[in-house]
Amino acid sequence: MARDILFSGIQPSGQLNIGHYFGAVKNWLRMQEDFDCLFSLVNLHAITVRQAPAELKKRSLDFVAAYMACGIDPEKSVIFAQSDVPEHSELMWLLSCHTYMGELERMTQYKDKIAKHTDNINLGLFSYPVLMAADILLYQTKAVPVGADQKQHLELARDLANRMNNAYGQLFTVPEPYIPSTEAGGRIMSLLEPEKKMSKSDENAGNYIALLDDPKTILKKVKRAVTDTDTIIRYDRDNKPGVSNLLTLLSGATGKAISELESEYDGKGYGHLKTDTGEAIVALLAPIQAEFHRLRDNEAELMQVMKQGACKARERASHTLKQVKKAMGLM
Ligand code: TYM
Repeated sequence: MARDILFSGIQPSGQLNIGHYFGAVKNWLRMQEDFDCLFSLVNLHAITVRQAPAELKKRSLDFVAAYMACGIDPEKSVIFAQSDVPEHSELMWLLSCHTYMGELERMTQYKDKIAKHTDNINLGLFSYPVLMAADILLYQTKAVPVGADQKQHLELARDLANRMNNAYGQLFTVPEPYIPSTEAGGRIMSLLEPEKKMSKSDENAGNYIALLDDPKTILKKVKRAVTDTDTIIRYDRDNKPGVSNLLTLLSGATGKAISELESEYDGKGYGHLKTDTGEAIVALLAPIQAEFHRLRDNEAELMQVMKQGACKARERASHTLKQVKKAMGLM
């Protein structure tokens, strides 16, 4: 029986961090066995913010190696760069003509980004969610595992699928988001500013733990994480965002439930929690880092994975695109 299709992607616009790992990649690994999966490096999304070309290319290879080091198996899943499948951009145009300005103006990520990049408020930043909808709809995707920050974009993809299906007949599968609860890592917060999301484009590297940070750096960053003036180790997002974030990280890295950790750390200090969280993250990342360095040394193999992935993705994407164009009366 054909398996349901899963699509997800990460922008190669900075270093992969543990927010991506807990928010998205962990679900990718869990779902890889049961779904027919496509994992993309969404480099066309990355260029909505200025990128140095040589750095973007290098980072794209880093990302392929990182996907594989985390456990994405190119024998089971399709790994490819978005820019290698031109159907994404073409479907985006067709969807753009069915997307209302008001829908895009409401996007919180757009509002955040234009506030941050005042010198480069480009059209791509605005239409970014339409490209994301194209990524998803092109493959008849059923499942989209992402972090909580992508929920609004996913809703647009669902609305567009329904709108197009109503206008032209059954063209697209309506995708479902798979988002971990906040407790389970759907929204990992910054270490120094725990009321803000952990982000790869943060200028201060002390705010995030990169997947490739060395053990000393990880321990140091976690030690410096902002907590509060209270002394109780308890999960409470609103009043204790820093401590709650550390509990989420420790729970994610050890597999222990937060309630279990709360009892275990009853009467212990924040220093203790930080040391254990840092060490648990180091232990989680050590095998991933070793595998990353092994894979990253063989660029030819990484290029081959991308090439094969793009071939497989294109075959499927072109099929959907052809149906859409035909239904819309485009020759
Ligand atoms: P991006 O590149 O910002 O992030 C990649 C994935 O990681 C999740 N994530 C987080 N999860 C928990 N806590 C955090 N602090 C955190 N930071 C990031 C994101 O939710 C995402 O799942 N627009 C997307 C990329 C994209 C995409 C797609 C995703 C383009 N096309 C199609 C799914 C399907 C983005 O910018 O993610």
